Amino acid sequence: MKTIDLKTPTMMGKIHVGADVIDARLPALVAGQKNFVVTDSNVFALYGAWFTRHFADAEIFVLSAGEENKNFGSLYAILEKMSAAGLHRNSRLFAVGGGVVGDIGGLAAALYMRGISCVQIPTTLLAQVDSSVGGKTAVDLGGVKNIVGAFYQPCEVLVDPTFLQTLPMREIKCGVGEMVKYAALNAEIFDILERNTDRLTDLAFLSDLIVACIQHKADVVQADEKESGERCSLNVGHTTGHAIELTSGLSHGESVLYGMLFETRIAVSAGICEKEYGSRLLALIEKAIAIEPNAAVDFSGIGESAEKARSDKKNSDDGKIKMAVAKCENEWTMFSLGFEEYRAALVQAAK
Ligand code: NAD
Ligand code: GLY
Repeated sequence: MKTIDLKTPTMMGKIHVGADVIDARLPALVAGQKNFVVTDSNVFALYGAWFTRHFADAEIFVLSAGEENKNFGSLYAILEKMSAAGLHRNSRLFAVGGGVVGDIGGLAAALYMRGISCVQIPTTLLAQVDSSVGGKTAVDLGGVKNIVGAFYQPCEVLVDPTFLQTLPMREIKCGVGEMVKYAALNAEIFDILERNTDRLTDLAFLSDLIVACIQHKADVVQADEKESGERCSLNVGHTTGHAIELTSGLSHGESVLYGMLFETRIAVSAGICEKEYGSRLLALIEKAIAIEPNAAVDFSGIGESAEKARSDKKNSDDGKIKMAVAKCENEWTMFSLGFEEYRAALVQAAK
């Protein structure tokens, strides 16, 4: 088991990674208080016996799987069930699932009695390398992603790569997408992925890279927990990615991959991203997209998707669309375009 510390002004958190983390940490975390578990219908169906073994006395809330359920109605239902279960301030919430469960479960923990202890147990590759770490919690509202939420750090994150064995290939692709995001920002991760593009679906290879990705994120979050500077880098590809996600029906991970593809092309054309570095990055993104080609992809209406980028959380009142883009090895920058310029550049980049 490898442990990464994540110290913020509100929490001295620990992220444990390895196939032994559940046995090593879960019994101690479950003991001594009332527990509440949030999971989703797919994870519960696959791991029913696991829940019985580890959470015999806990109340378990099973959310219907899918991003469309990361909303206020589900949050309200979770909070109602927490209250009915008689949880106290010293109770603990365990979020066991992908990023949807982690985001909504984390927000429920932040809100209930103004904050109870939260443990994240991520079961998708995307959640293991990204969403379970760093304390961003949220639900979607009115067609806008993650617009209502809180920064609320889990006390521990238990990352067990064994969960990945049941993950469909499309979800592996989504997690690799977030790993490519780290590659765009971190030369060491870039080098490892670039030298191993034939192993992007090899669970042993991917599991070995999880710690490096989490360490990168933990360093960034420690420097800038509330995203006033350095943490914006973790949104590479996300301005356009969220716009695609909201209009295309593609999952978060796939949308971010296309968001990175188009934003990198835009940044290279604008001379913001170094040409040679941009070509290497684009080649890596394309390898990740090719893990499982998606017949549903159609960007003929990308001009309309661009509208959704107007509500991105990185924008300010100046009406410009802001993107975090890689510049060259280990360097990134914020890059803004007026809306019409952005829309035209996006249409061009998606051709
Ligand atoms: P997800 O939670 O919808 O999980 C993807 C699918 O995999 C679901 O159908 C789920 O039921 C299934 N699944 C989960 N674990 C499984 C397992 N072990 N075996 C088989 N199936 C399994 O999606 P995701 O890709 O994990 O996360 C995307 C969400 O995360 C989005 O809502 C996004 O906004 C959010 N996110 C948050 C952050 C953050 O910092 N908080 C970062 C990135 C993404
Ligand atoms: N996924 C972006 C962040 O956590 O900041």
